[in-house]
Parts: sequence; structure tokens; C-alpha cells
Amino acid sequence: MWKKWKRLRTGEKVLFGIVIFLGFVVVQNFASLEWIGYHSPKPMYPILTHFDFSADGKKGSVLFRTHWCTECHRAIGNGTSSVLDLDGEGSRRSEKWIEAFLADPAKNYGAPTFDHGPTQDAAWVAKLPAQERHDLAVFLSELTADRGAPDAKMPPQGKSSFIDDMLRVWAPESWRIGFSDIRNKDEEQRNNGQ
Ligand code: HEC
Repeated sequence: MWKKWKRLRTGEKVLFGIVIFLGFVVVQNFASLEWIGYHSPKPMYPILTHFDFSADGKKGSVLFRTHWCTECHRAIGNGTSSVLDLDGEGSRRSEKWIEAFLADPAKNYGAPTFDHGPTQDAAWVAKLPAQERHDLAVFLSELTADRGAPDAKMPPQGKSSFIDDMLRVWAPESWRIGFSDIRNKDEEQRNNGQ
């Protein structure tokens, strides 16, 4: 082993050292992040998506995985992000809307569908028993997002200099004229004493 090492050229030794060092950095970083993740009393990021499942919602959560909705969607840590992420779906859509969508997507989506339509890859979803579509709809409607979560309509409460800066730098003038700032609603509510 030592003889082989001595036979290596200086450049090869340096290269070998760099590879070992990079490997060490990757492993060490991974291990410390995992350690912090498990041992820190505070979560690394605030958790802004919540769920508190009813009995039907729990059944729907199982169906979501056993029917492989996860092949295309993701929710509470299961599945892929190849199409829509359904975490926080309950803050965007009502249970009624989701159930109607699952039963007849072409009619209820409000836009041409890419996968759920009658001749498309996920056409089978509309053919599931009504009870299963109902349970799936209940499950998805119970995935809610707090303010400030990526799926929530409203941004985090209070002033955010980060959002102000992003608006100043990125929002074109036409947006400022054409759209109202949703955060002003907070201001109005405060002024009305609500
Ligand atoms: C082949 C991929 C695929 C599979 C499998 C699939 N979906 Fe979808 N889903 C999509 C796509 C793409 C959309 C967007 C609408 C469209 O283009 O069809 C969507 C939209 C949705 C929406 C509407 C989201 C919104 O707010 O606009 C719901 C709800 C939904 N899917 C639930 C399900 C459930 C439940 C299953 C399993 C029973 C499932 N999907 C299986 C691809 C898929």
C-alpha cells in the first residue's frame, strides 16, 4: 500500500487528496445537517402546511398512495413534483370543487386538461368508485396552508422588507397600476378595527 502510494506522482497525490477532502466535506455536511434536523428543538424551517384528518380524510390519504396519484403529484412528503404539488390544496379549492373535478375534469377544470381528461393518462381517476373520489377529495381539502406558505393565497402577516425589495426590483410598473397589493387588505382590516 505504502509502496504504491510512493510510486504515485505529486499531481496524482494532490488529486487524490482533493477527492478525499471533497468526500469528507460532503459526508460531514450531510451528517451535521441530519444531526441538527433531529436534535434541534426548533424546526429548521417553520412548518406552514397543516392537516388534521377526519376518518374519510385518512382513508383518502391511503388511497392517494395506493392508487399511485403519487406518480404525478406530491402531498405530505409522498410522491413526485412532476405536476401540481397538492400540499395546501385545501386552501386553494373547496372539497366540493375537488370532488367535481375528479368526477368530470374536462367539464370542471376551467381550462384544457393535460392528464385528467377522458383520453389522457389519468382518465382512470374519473372512473374510480364515487366513494373513493369523495374520500380523496376530503383528504386533499384537509391539506391546508398557513399564510406565507408557498400554497397560501396570502403572504406572511406583517411587513416584510424582503417582499418590498422583490417588488421594487422585479415588478414592472404596469403591474403596480394593473393590480392591487393584496397586503393592503391587512392595513384596511386594521383601520376598520378588525
Ligand atoms: C398522469 C399524471 C397524473 C396522475 C396519475 C394524477 N394526476 Fe391529478 N393532475 C395531473 C395534472 C397534469 C393536473 C392538472 C390538470 C390537468 O392538466 O389534467 C392534475 C390536477 C389535479 C387536481 C386539481 C388541482 C388544482 O387545484 O387545480 C387534483 C385535485 C388532482 N389532480 C388529484 C389527483 C388524484 C386524487 C389522483 C389519483 C387518484 C391524481 N390526481 C392522479 C396529473 C395527474
